[in-house]
Amino acid sequence: MSNQNKSSRKTTLDIKKMKVLGEKITMLTAYDYAISSILDECNIDIILVGDSLGMVVLGYDTTLPVTMEDMLHHTKAVSRAAQNALIVADMPFLSYQISPAAALANAGRFLQEANAQAVKLEGGREYAETVQKIISAGIPVMAHLGLTPQSIHQIGGYKVQGKKEDSARKIIEDAKILEEAGAFSLVLECIPEGLASEITHSLSIPTIGIGAGVNCDGQVLVINDMLGIYERFTPKHVKKYANLNLEIKKAVKTYIAEVKTGNFPDSEHSFK
Ligand code: KIV
Repeated sequence: MSNQNKSSRKTTLDIKKMKVLGEKITMLTAYDYAISSILDECNIDIILVGDSLGMVVLGYDTTLPVTMEDMLHHTKAVSRAAQNALIVADMPFLSYQISPAAALANAGRFLQEANAQAVKLEGGREYAETVQKIISAGIPVMAHLGLTPQSIHQIGGYKVQGKKEDSARKIIEDAKILEEAGAFSLVLECIPEGLASEITHSLSIPTIGIGAGVNCDGQVLVINDMLGIYERFTPKHVKKYANLNLEIKKAVKTYIAEVKTGNFPDSEHSFK
């Protein structure tokens, strides 16, 4: 095969190597073609098609109503744009909880139909067998511990997890079990930074933090949060790198005013 055909796409092996080299891993969510191409042009390492889709794009109160069809639809759009980033698709509620066999069938759809290269699922030791099953078919799995939004009704709200000794201990143990099951990386969401640091140092696979402090091997944010588009709720861990809500409103108000006054379209934007 000539070098011209060689893909520049990051692989899960590249991501694991970054931990060894001490190079921080960058991950952001994307749900459509336009944002995915921007992230890819900026050289983001991983694009996560998160089931946060349900809240920030589809307007649900939780991630629970998101379906496989929703996730496939948006993963297809993201993967049409991204040539370089590793694309990870989030497995939605009930797509992997019912049985390892059903989980494998659903995980496979993300690779076969939507061109993702890996899947992510939430949960600890109770999913070790599921992770093994998916990996046995050659599908890389990113695990997710700490605040797991699909369990929102069990954990009683979007709260920091692992603050008490027994719950911290359980997260540490789960992380080890998921690593042993074969996960290639682990998202740590909303846990104390000291706990995230301990887990990061105890694992050979990279950790990717969101509200888990600076000592994780990488970081992830929800793109609509970090761009200041989603205004309904801003968690403490979100840094707004832009205020697009304001910018969009300014643009829309200017457009409305120009249409009302007959200043748009002008000759520059009209045909003779
Ligand atoms: O759904 C999502 O966007 C996520 C990230 C917050 C990690 O799971």
